[in-house]
Amino acid sequence: MLIFDSGVGGLSVLKTIKRILPKIHYIYILDNEAFPYGNKTEIFIIKRSIKIINTIKKIYPISIVVIACNTVSTVALSVLRNIFNFPIIGIFPSIKSAKKITKNKIIGLIATKATINSFYTKKIICKNSSSNTLKIIGTNKLALIAEKKIRGYSVSRIQLKNIFKPWIKLPIYPDTIILGCTHFSLLEEEIKNILCIRSPINFIDSIEIVASQIENYFNQLKMEQKIKKNIFLYSKKSDSLKSLLFFLKEYKFKIIKHINLY
Ligand code: DGL
Repeated sequence: MLIFDSGVGGLSVLKTIKRILPKIHYIYILDNEAFPYGNKTEIFIIKRSIKIINTIKKIYPISIVVIACNTVSTVALSVLRNIFNFPIIGIFPSIKSAKKITKNKIIGLIATKATINSFYTKKIICKNSSSNTLKIIGTNKLALIAEKKIRGYSVSRIQLKNIFKPWIKLPIYPDTIILGCTHFSLLEEEIKNILCIRSPINFIDSIEIVASQIENYFNQLKMEQKIKKNIFLYSKKSDSLKSLLFFLKEYKFKIIKHINLY
């Protein structure tokens, strides 16, 4: 299984996959050279994800690809599925799941700007605009805050308040928030603290949906595992990777090394 993201967000997806399929082996690509994806053009995101899969395909056998990134999934998944012949699973903001549990009928959707501006997201927003009130925030700053938190830096309340200002100003807060970026699941507590002053919040991140799709491939459809150890690859050599090592421990990577994506 190849799993990738621009940064640590995809590790929150991997964590759930590992819980459901404890014997799974994986190659994780942290494309820190291109981080953040959220401020890139569609063409860049498409070319970059093709490059990642093609590069790995030449070195390691791939049975399945998990795009642990809403930005790449909403922008590039259909293109990737047309190019490659192994299964490719993506993660998407689910307004449908949010509609099922909201009580006050106010749903928040927060994602990167590229995700919000993608054709896929615009289509689902349009489809769901009638019955519930959807409040949308497009931000490229929150993923960076998550990267810093994982490296041990404290999360600034002022920065968070600025990002969530459009919702803080509302007379009634969303009771259900779609975390449309895998990085944001790492900040649930902080987001709760900023917004939970008046009422509790449900978070929807679609990670369980992705994990159960992968479980289906390996358990029901008996897909074969083609790699025998866990490998962590990063696209840019950087000092800030050292502070990630502690966080990576639980993923039991046998190999941690740089990969050239140019
Ligand atoms: N984790 C990503 C997502 O789910 C990408 C964040 C970024 O690189 O901007 O959208």
